Amino acid sequence: MPIDLVIDGGKLVSPDAIVDGAIAIDGGQIVAVGTLAGLPSARQTIDAKGLHVLPGAIDVHVHFRQPGYDHKETWSSGTAAAAVGGVTTVFDMPNTNPPTATVEAVKEKLAIAGAQAIIDFGVYGLIGEHTLDKLEGMLAAGAISHKLYMGSENPLVPCPSDGAILEAFETLARLGVRCTVHAENTPVLQWRGHQLMRSGRTDAGAHIEQHTDVATVEAVSRTAIFAEWTGAKVHIAHESSRHSLPHIRFAKSRGVDLTVETCPHYLFLSTDDGARVGDNFLRVKPPVREPGHCEPLWTALLDGTIDIISTDHAPHLPEEKRRGVIWDCAPGFPGVETSMRLMLNEVARGRWQITDYVRAACAAPAKAFGLWPRKGSLEIGADADIVLVDTQRRSQITAAKLHSRGNASPFDGYETVGLPIRTLVRGKTVAVDGSPVCEGGWGKPVTRSSS
Ligand code: NCD
Ligand code: ZN
Repeated sequence: MPIDLVIDGGKLVSPDAIVDGAIAIDGGQIVAVGTLAGLPSARQTIDAKGLHVLPGAIDVHVHFRQPGYDHKETWSSGTAAAAVGGVTTVFDMPNTNPPTATVEAVKEKLAIAGAQAIIDFGVYGLIGEHTLDKLEGMLAAGAISHKLYMGSENPLVPCPSDGAILEAFETLARLGVRCTVHAENTPVLQWRGHQLMRSGRTDAGAHIEQHTDVATVEAVSRTAIFAEWTGAKVHIAHESSRHSLPHIRFAKSRGVDLTVETCPHYLFLSTDDGARVGDNFLRVKPPVREPGHCEPLWTALLDGTIDIISTDHAPHLPEEKRRGVIWDCAPGFPGVETSMRLMLNEVARGRWQITDYVRAACAAPAKAFGLWPRKGSLEIGADADIVLVDTQRRSQITAAKLHSRGNASPFDGYETVGLPIRTLVRGKTVAVDGSPVCEGGWGKPVTRSSS
């Protein structure tokens, strides 16, 4: 009996090596890796000559907006954008409406996602003062992990008291589940926001002043101390500040089980980009900061202080981001469709290796959240979540052509070298040459094998 598919002639990329080889796929899984002659015959062959073959990227931080904000994104548009961008698994944040804060809300979101998704997905449950007794139940209902908004001004997902956070960490330590933390100090954000508004400030600089670096430095440190004390595993979302890095290094040196992500907008942008895209348009939480943070964040990514590339894919309509008063501008950008090519462009420029990219975008997130080695790897037994990449392909990002509904990207007009050109999820091609080619409903929820 021939197997389903062979991908032949490409360069297979793992965190450690690039090897010429062929991959045999059957029943949605990788069943053999080697030379074509040594593989079973297949009903279909994809010629990957001249291409790199990567595990699909795993983006552990997206906002796909349903239920509640369908005009910004749907699971259909969000997973189409992800598939085109080489992302094969996403974890969705709970700040939807209603928030993902109950067993029923987890089930509802899984049902919405399951009907539309063309890639695999996890959903986060919310850590709140009123959800402490529901954390285990949300996991049992299928949540992949939990999200703590330690820095929040959104009444739908309020920051719990430190007492409640400590209790949540005790519970999650017992359950062995890593939670993701938006690490900013809420009282600092609230106090400074109030003072700045009262003084009549409406400019983009006020947003940066509100989100002063120390708000995140303190919250990262507090998260690490609570994690160390309780034995909880934690993941720091969207690291934005060079000032946090020594504190992260100190925590890791003490053995705290801490993983950290950053996003392309913190690696590539500063407030200087306001002149190009509009100062208010740049609004995101935590902020894109003044020049001087990108280089230290790159150093941290290369030395392992930062483990993971995510996107904090937070789509909004252009008109929601182009308002005159900074407080009225929606914070965040779409990211799933542009992240891989932006990061590959840095491979072309020689800043890092494609193996480094696979470590940060595929292997590390899978390991942090208990999906390894079924996701994030090209080993035998893994799901055949695979991206074919042309590392030489030169093209331009056009925001208006992105598949997200909220396509207000600060990377509009960027020229990149390196492009995902075909994406497979469990052996099925879901996107080719910039277009989704799969019916909604193929995507499945992911489950933890360990974490
Ligand atoms: C997030 C969003 O739009 O959902 N925006 C962002 O700037 N990261 C929510 C948030 O973290 O405030
Ligand atoms: Zn977010």
